[in-house]
Amino acid sequence: MANRKKIIITLDGPASTGKSSIAKRLSNTLGYIHIDSGSMYRAATLFALRLDPERILRPNVFVKYLSEINIDFKKINEEQKIFLNNEDVSHEIRETYVTNEVSNVAKIPELRLLLVNKQKEFGKNKGIIMDGRDIGTIVFPNAECKFFLSAKVEVRAKRRYLEQSKQGINQTYKMVLDNLKMRDKLDTKRVNSPLKKAVDAIEIDVGNMTLDDAYEKLLTYIKNQIV
Ligand code: CDP
Ligand code: CDP
Repeated sequence: MANRKKIIITLDGPASTGKSSIAKRLSNTLGYIHIDSGSMYRAATLFALRLDPERILRPNVFVKYLSEINIDFKKINEEQKIFLNNEDVSHEIRETYVTNEVSNVAKIPELRLLLVNKQKEFGKNKGIIMDGRDIGTIVFPNAECKFFLSAKVEVRAKRRYLEQSKQGINQTYKMVLDNLKMRDKLDTKRVNSPLKKAVDAIEIDVGNMTLDDAYEKLLTYIKNQIV
């Protein structure tokens, strides 16, 4: 597929619909760059929390330090890692204390402006698949191929709970469910680039699908776009 035309593919939807897993696989198949935009908001959240010794979020203080945030992606042993000011923070950004605050940080307009500009820059040569919340609406409104994944919150919570249990993260199903509900609400209700399906995005309910099925379905649509 390497000789086909390069396009921009966007993959939006609420947490734990399989966006990153599917995007990662598609990027390998297509030879495209994959950017998990949520990891950028997570890295910024880590930065914000580290400004306070007790890890209390202070948005007014945080916005003064935005110019000191430098986020990069690098492939190490075939694995994409995210770096915050040259430090590999790929694991730490998944910690519960970051997950609990990320949607409060992601609604800060000054941060969104900074990260959206960086995301646009990643896409300037096309050949990119980016997943997030506002990628098809705000970051790449002209993308050739847009998807919006959905599933009931209970299904998503169960999947995230299983994933975290395997990783040894000590959270109950109820804690995961409450966090997803809270983030769904904050992400859809915020004024600045809320989580929303782009009018031209293809919506896929992945509630009853395996990851393999969802991947195949998206790949079929994409192949029709890049012939
Ligand atoms: O991996 P998970 O589905 O838990 O979430 P994520 O993709 O890592 O995103 C973490 C949070 O970042 C989301 O809940 C949103 O608050 C925010 N986010 C955003 O506002 N805009 C994006 N394009 C991506 C993520
Ligand atoms: O990036 P996003 O938060 O949308 O989801 P993810 O981190 O790729 O997937 C969340 C979890 O759900 C992972 O453990 C996936 O393996 C699982 N999943 C699944 O089992 N079946 C699906 N159809 C979608 C996701």
